[in-house]
Amino acid sequence: MAVVAIIGGQWGDEGKGRIVDLLAEKANMVVRFSGGDNAGHTIVNPCGEFRLHLVPSGIFYPQVTCIIGNGVAINPAVLLEEVDNLESHGVDTSHLIISDRTHLIMPYHTLMDGLEEERRGKKSIGTTRRGIGPVFSDKVARIGLRAGDLLHKDVFLSRLKTVLELKNAILTQVYKVPSLSLEEIYEQYCHYGERLAILIKETSSIIRQAVARGDLVLLEGAQGTLLDPDFGTYPYVTSSSPLVGAAAIGTGLSPREISQVVGVFKAYVTRVGGGPMPTELMDNTGHLLREKGHEYGATTGRPRRCGWFDAVAGRFSVQINGFNSIALTHLDVYDGLPSIKICTAYKFNGEIIDFFPSSSSVLEKCQPVYEELPGWQESISEIRDFARLPTRARCYIARLEGLLSCSMSLISVGPKREQVIRRKSRIKDKESKLQFKMQRGSTKN
Ligand code: GDP
Ligand code: IMO
Ligand code: MG
Repeated sequence: MAVVAIIGGQWGDEGKGRIVDLLAEKANMVVRFSGGDNAGHTIVNPCGEFRLHLVPSGIFYPQVTCIIGNGVAINPAVLLEEVDNLESHGVDTSHLIISDRTHLIMPYHTLMDGLEEERRGKKSIGTTRRGIGPVFSDKVARIGLRAGDLLHKDVFLSRLKTVLELKNAILTQVYKVPSLSLEEIYEQYCHYGERLAILIKETSSIIRQAVARGDLVLLEGAQGTLLDPDFGTYPYVTSSSPLVGAAAIGTGLSPREISQVVGVFKAYVTRVGGGPMPTELMDNTGHLLREKGHEYGATTGRPRRCGWFDAVAGRFSVQINGFNSIALTHLDVYDGLPSIKICTAYKFNGEIIDFFPSSSSVLEKCQPVYEELPGWQESISEIRDFARLPTRARCYIARLEGLLSCSMSLISVGPKREQVIRRKSRIKDKESKLQFKMQRGSTKN
């Protein structure tokens, strides 16, 4: 079969969870490969409505092995709460496995995330305060604790003792806050270890075996391309890579094994936290998108910043990930809008540029150059057949495909599992003709 990576194409919250929940029906395995519980993946399916932070979105299918890969950082308290919540709603979680190489989010990580944010003051990143920056910093600084350490209490204690001495020095001397207790943390994590021990395994071999059997394996991304520490809007980014490149490292698969890369994009853009966002709408349209799309963070509840689709950033995301196809979500949120804008270029220092700048200080000064398309006036959330979409909606899709040079194979028209249009074949010429007519203003709704 295939190894398919599902990657966020924008600033996160594109609807990756709902797409994985849809595609997992035919899968044998779903693996999360990066991020931590900063992710919030909302799923609405016959089992109910769930916000998953760490558990892969394939958990609702008992036949799908769900793996939290080595590239993820786990907060055991959050994971156990999530597992208990799923079980209490009748969702079997016995097919969940955790890589012994996942890094553990410790109480000092969450504490320091908050303290660092407060220290930054007006320049704060707007993190989720889940300890993500600190845990991934410790990983590369080689002072992290891993899930596998929970299986060896003496090793865990000795490593924790060394690290906590350093962390307490920082807490008391730099931040002037009380130190943390070694005994309390140790006891707490021993308790987590006892509950999680049965799930903790070497997972790269399990994933490789599935691939060798020819299973369908989905690699579930977290966050979005523009939050990548290298290619995103640095420093307003997260601390692990959401790109497809990280899907290999975060699972232990060879990059050669990844056969398809699906980018998930919203029909507009949203962003939570600080950092540049050229198409942000501060007006009524922005407000309308937020309310219609229920654009409030799945992890922190913060209102999401909303704006028109940014095709410059989108094109960059397609290039950096090499998407084979795109799943476009939230198209229904545009129902009833008189017109829809797409940002096709930026204006910087009086010049038109069509590339995504590497510097946030440049991006902050970029003005969007818009193309305007007429909107459709009917509800599309019950439509399941592409041909039945209003002509103007099809033209919008065709224009995005043209700008991104990538075809859209799935169109999501609502949050529920079944609210999706699968495109079987693409009649390119017909779409281009429609687009031409649209530009001349000769189509009706
Ligand atoms: P993720 O982090 O990429 O999985 O996305 P989130 O779950 O954080 O945010 C997506 C939100 O949009 C959730 O509330 C979903 O239920 C909802 N959603 C997903 N797809 C659609 C769609 O096509 N239309 C609408 N209206 N809502 C959607
Ligand atoms: P999913 O998987 C949207 C954002 C935060 C902040 C920045 C850094 O649901 O798409 P962090 O806590 O990671 O140090 O915060 O990244 N962020 C997300 N925004 N969706 C997410 O995940 C995010 N995970 C982190 O808001 O701006
Ligand atoms: Mg989310």
